[in-house]
Amino acid sequence: MPVRRFVIIGPARSFGQPAPQSTPFAETYATEDPVQQTARALAHELGLPCVSPGAGSVLRLLAAAGSAKAVVEIGTGTGVSGVWLLRGMRPDGVLTTIDVEHEHQRIARRVFQEAGFAPSRTRIISGRALDVLPRLADGAYDLIFVDADTTEFAACTEAALRLLRPGGVLIVNGAHANGRISDPAARDVDTLTIRETVKAIRESEDWIPAVIPSGAGLLTAVKRS
Ligand SMILES: C[S@@+](CC[C@H](N)C(=O)[O-])C[C@H]1O[C@@H](n2cnc3c(N)ncnc32)[C@H](O)[C@@H]1O
Repeated sequence: MPVRRFVIIGPARSFGQPAPQSTPFAETYATEDPVQQTARALAHELGLPCVSPGAGSVLRLLAAAGSAKAVVEIGTGTGVSGVWLLRGMRPDGVLTTIDVEHEHQRIARRVFQEAGFAPSRTRIISGRALDVLPRLADGAYDLIFVDADTTEFAACTEAALRLLRPGGVLIVNGAHANGRISDPAARDVDTLTIRETVKAIRESEDWIPAVIPSGAGLLTAVKRS
């Protein structure tokens, strides 16, 4: 019989913790309109992951809580996460969104338009994240959402520290590493990279972190003032 190994990071269950069904409830609590549903269907057609409704609603919440005016998104996809972010940002806010694939951004541009956002609300930059990020201004952003190449997470979080204003928020999607984050047997490159990023943020003096378990897991951190 195979031996199953678990790493218990904290108490498995204690009085007052949420019931196990809380995650599905959080996902169904967030609802999407037809534009978001279309963007999600287009992502599916392309075989492209996108944020879950629950995770999207957290993005909107954090953008709204920080009255975000300037946001950077790494990984535009078909615009699912972008619409959630824009809906939380200030009405005059600008979403700078970066993707290496023109085709994804062509779809996203249309989605943003269909969702009712003026072209001035988005700055859609085509290119590899690590080539584009050095061109963005220091301390000029309220929120940065990282959702692209896992192997570049560490470099993107490093760039985020430079780009965010004090009190700005970093969100990295995929903190659960597809359910492998706490499995010591999982040693593939993506899982190792995510583990290193999560650990580095937790141990850094620069960040106040928390993992929000919505969707694929959102590693969130506020840049210390
Ligand atoms: C998971 S999808 C983004 C989904 C989107 N955030 C959403 O929820 O709707 C990842 C995107 O990152 C892009 N990408 C992958 N590697 C990249 C890189 N090095 N720089 C910029 N974009 C990259 C892919 O083309 C893809 O569109």
